[in-house]
Amino acid sequence: MADTTSGAAKKRLTFADVVPGASTAKAGKLAGNSYVPEIATVVEIIQETPTIKTFRMRFDDPAVMESFSFAPGQVGQLGVFGVGESTFAITSKPSEKEFIQFSVMRAGEVTQALHKLSVGDKVGIRAPMGCGFPMDAWKGKKILFVMGGIGSAALKATIEYCLEHRADYQGVNILYGATHPTNFTYQYDIDEWQKREDIDLTLTIDRECDGWQCDVGMVPAVLERMNPDPANTIAILCGPPIMIKFALISFMKLGFTPEQTYTTLEKRMKCGIGICGRCNVGPKYVCVDGPVFSMAELNELPDEL
Ligand SMILES: Cc1cc2nc3c(=O)[nH]c(=O)nc-3n(C[C@H](O)[C@H](O)[C@H](O)COP(=O)(O)OP(=O)(O)OC[C@H]3O[C@@H](n4cnc5c(N)ncnc54)[C@H](O)[C@@H]3O)c2cc1C
Ligand code: FES
Repeated sequence: MADTTSGAAKKRLTFADVVPGASTAKAGKLAGNSYVPEIATVVEIIQETPTIKTFRMRFDDPAVMESFSFAPGQVGQLGVFGVGESTFAITSKPSEKEFIQFSVMRAGEVTQALHKLSVGDKVGIRAPMGCGFPMDAWKGKKILFVMGGIGSAALKATIEYCLEHRADYQGVNILYGATHPTNFTYQYDIDEWQKREDIDLTLTIDRECDGWQCDVGMVPAVLERMNPDPANTIAILCGPPIMIKFALISFMKLGFTPEQTYTTLEKRMKCGIGICGRCNVGPKYVCVDGPVFSMAELNELPDEL
């Protein structure tokens, strides 16, 4: 199986990387014991949809904030003290130096506690984790993003990266689906994307709705209607499992190969650093070998998702 992601991003941590006090500083990684979160302060909260909030946080240590970097597609563990921590995609622009951002859908204990936070509250962050998308290897290609619901969070930083390096990519095409117009995250970005001539943006909702002027229909059906040319194209897919299942069938019908079709897996994590074995799929740990995988890589794994 070809490893199509960058070698550096796929490096697995060793015990020496995580023992308390060991020198674990590495490019793009927080220094110190990887189980100990960095303290950060919430500086802004954006209510994206009725159930999703975006949190902008600044690390309390200015040196950590300044040196923080991540690759598009990487994730972090965001924790509320006394409650617990959960995994979220980093949704800031990779070039952002003022804050780190996560978008959180209310689901259970941790996400409800996160939704109760106010500006000025403290959180714990362990980030970045996992591997990102191989953006360098994709230079010169058309990038097609297909996303639904909170799947937009997993692809947000990658879209931002493509837009910041627009000249490196032959095309940027975004298909974004939501159940209802009020359920699109990043409406302020959508407004900007719609004005740009160098982005092909298709928005779709599941059912007709008063005042809605874009597409109507489920993401896989709209994808088939769009009929994108697979030549020199990378497709990145993220959304609810049912959307992924049917969109994959559509991609195969359209002639996309598993090697040019990527997704980012949501598999519950605990340590986030390849030690506890909580997130494995066959021999792969989603927290270090993923969450980004090509379909060719996933086809090699046991059906445990
Ligand atoms: C790599 C990765 C990236 C993610 N990125 C984001 C993101 O950007 N934004 C976002 O809102 N969420 C994201 N998630 C999902 C997020 O981690 C879960 O919603 C969160 O852990 C729920 O925690 P909780 O304590 O609120 O819920 P819990 O109380 O633990 O669970 C509430 C309910 O949701 C189910 N559940 C919780 N987490 C998951 C999961 N990961 N998979 C399947 N079922 C689950 C539980 O079984 C339970 O039914 C991501 C998950 C992973 C693994
Ligand atoms: S979360 Fe512990 S090994 Fe992946």
